[in-house]
Formats: sequence, C-alpha cells, structure tokens
Amino acid sequence: MTDTKRDPALLPATAPTATEPPADEPLLRTVGLTKHFHLGGLFSRQILHAVDDASFSIGEREILALVGESGSGKSTVARLLAMVYRPTGGEIYYRGRSVHDLHSRKDVLAYRSQVPMVFQDPYSSINPVFRVSHGVMRNLKLHRRDLNGAQRREEAERVFQAVGLTPAREMLRKYPYEMSGGQRQRVGFAQALAVNPKLILADEPVSMLDVSIRAGVLNLMVDLRDRLGVSILYITHDIASARYVADRIIVMYAGHMVETGPVEEVLARPKHPYTQLLLSAVPDPREPVSVSTSASVGEPPKVVNPAEGCRFRLRCPIAVDECSRVTPRLRPMGPAHTAACHVAVPEPGTAEPAVAGAPIAAGSAHT
Ligand SMILES: Nc1ncnc2c1ncn2[C@@H]1O[C@H](COP(=O)(O)OP(=O)(O)OP(=O)(O)O)[C@@H](O)[C@H]1O
Ligand code: SF4
Ligand SMILES: [Mg+2]
Repeated sequence: MTDTKRDPALLPATAPTATEPPADEPLLRTVGLTKHFHLGGLFSRQILHAVDDASFSIGEREILALVGESGSGKSTVARLLAMVYRPTGGEIYYRGRSVHDLHSRKDVLAYRSQVPMVFQDPYSSINPVFRVSHGVMRNLKLHRRDLNGAQRREEAERVFQAVGLTPAREMLRKYPYEMSGGQRQRVGFAQALAVNPKLILADEPVSMLDVSIRAGVLNLMVDLRDRLGVSILYITHDIASARYVADRIIVMYAGHMVETGPVEEVLARPKHPYTQLLLSAVPDPREPVSVSTSASVGEPPKVVNPAEGCRFRLRCPIAVDECSRVTPRLRPMGPAHTAACHVAVPEPGTAEPAVAGAPIAAGSAHT
C-alpha cells in the first residue's frame, strides 16, 4: 500500500500566502483536505479514499471532536495535520500559513512542537524501557534548546504537575509499568505539553482506558483548554464523550464529513441519519463516558474507487433515488450547524447556501 501522489487537480484555487495571520484567521484551517491510498501492486488501479475534501477549522482554546466508526478516516485526518502523511489534495493552514510551505527541518520541527499528537495506546509514545521522565526530557531537548539542564528538569516537573501527576519529582522517576493506564496517558499529555503546544491532536486518548478512569483524562483535556488555552482535536468513536468535552463536533462517515456544528446543537438535533444512528446506539448520551457504540452499528465500507452518491446510502433507512446519483454536500441546518444529506430538513429560518445545487462533494462547506 502506498500513498498516492499529491494531485494538482485537488489543490484549492486559493494561493497559500500570508506569513502574518489575518485577525480573523483561525488557529488551524483545512481546505478540501484529501488523502487517497494506492492499494495493490504497481499496476493496480485501486485507490482507497481515506479522506475526501474535508474543510474545517479549529479555533484558539477550542476542543473539536472528530467522531466516527472504525475506518471513517479520523486518524488519517490527524496524521495529515501532524504532517505524518502528505495530503493527496487540499491544504492545511496553520495561523494562516500553508504547512505545505514548511520545508526546512527547523520550520517542520517548530510546527510539530506546536501541533503534537497523543496516541490511543500510551506505549506508542512512551518507551517502556526508560523512566517516564525520558520522553519529556527528550522533547524538551529537541524543541526547547533555550533551556539548560536544570531548567529542563524544572520544566518537566511543571508539566507533570499540570497534568496531575504529583508529586511530580517522584512521578518522573517511575517506570511506565509502575503506573496505571490513566497515569500513562497523562504522561502522553505531559510529553505534548513540554513542547509548548497550541493544538494537541488526541487520537482516541481514552478508548483503551478502563471506563472508571476515562472521566479523569477527559477532565484533563477540559482543564488544559481552560487553564492553559490549548486547543485539542479530540478523536473518538464515542459520541457521548464528545458531548462531555467538546465545543464543536464533526461526524465522519467513510472519509466524508457528514455533520458539523456546536456539540450541544448536533447532539440535541442530529440531522444526518448516520449521526442519529450513532446516538440511538448510546444508552444515554448525557453520560460522560459511555461504552463504545461501534459494535452495535457496524462499520463504514472501505471506500475504493467510489462512485458518485452518498456513501451511507446502503445503510440509510430514508435513502431516495438521488442518494445513489449525487454526492450530498454539507449545507446549513441551523446556526453553525451543517449536514450532508439530501433529505435532512433544516431548522425553520435557516438560510439556504448562496449557491444551491452545485455538484460538490460532501465536506466542502467550511465549518
Ligand atoms: N497507510 C495506509 N495505507 C492504506 N490504507 C490506509 C492507511 N491508513 C489508513 N488506511 C485506510 O484508510 C481508511 C481510514 O483509516 P483511519 O485509520 O483514518 O480510520 P479511523 O477512523 O481512524 O479508524 P479507527 O477508529 O479504527 O482508528 C481505512 O479504510 C484504512 O484501512
Ligand atoms: S443523502 Fe440519502 S442516503 Fe445519504 S444520508 Fe441522506 S437520505 Fe440517507
Ligand atoms: Mg484511528
């Protein structure tokens, strides 16, 4: 399996410029972000569409939840934002500057230090052989060259304290196996915090944790936003936990953004049948930490050489003819609320999009 090359046809028309962000520029913004993978051998024409045409933004001090079943493209979005993958098309603007323009090692390191990742399995980022101080000190050495040894130790204690690993000096001396799963996940956040992040990409940070300790890590994310002003992309398949921590939500299905909006609004009045299905599988969406819903609602299809039409149509209880012919685009459903469904009915008084009926893939509306 190989990445497909960056396709010029999928690049946005707007030229990425701006070194100084305009006043209204969000912290991070994507335009038509797309990632395809070439499957099979050299002569294979099988192209898997992991993410298609995703346009969204993340503001300062904001937690944006990215929700969807296994294989919907959530981690691919995070890896694109982390510059682990190169996009097949589209752009990522960080503070108004296209990350595609970051070439020097120094610029890429600076971006990665401001947009670090925290993984589902804490062991992906914590080396089990070393004391937990190792990863934090390594990040400080790499990204904070202005600090001397004593300052680095002080800083390590500060970030351990910030994530609730106290007494910090004692905790820093522990080995990962001496910690609980929740504590190890906090070490992952401490490593991210050590590099002065503006946006943490948290890919399913609680899904491997015991239900009883999930709330603690979710609270930590809220605390990091409120106290330190860090923004977080919170990736999860658990729509109920999104309500607990997030300001806004994006629901993804089979590589498309299918519904977006303020989390309370989307969960109270879900417009897309897929969001409705996810919510119907949650016993009580007001519960902060519910059990995974994926098993009960199935999985999105692998999207290989997809035809035009709604990708949810084979599972949709209200599909109409148009669904197999035209890919629905995100359209307004209420204040700041959008859904990509031909049949969904907007809240009364919702303005129609300026250009109606244009054949644009789902995900094109900016959120
Ligand atoms: N490197 C790769 N090569 C080929 N296909 C890939 C690669 N990475 C991801 N995919 C495919 O892209 C699609 C989206 O994968 P992704 O990991 O982004 O989904 P996800 O929403 O994070 O799922 P999960 O909840 O299981 O983590 C899947 O069909 C996956 O198999
Ligand atoms: S566009 Fe059609 S198939 Fe897709 S969610 Fe809406 S009604 Fe269902
Ligand atoms: Mg994933």
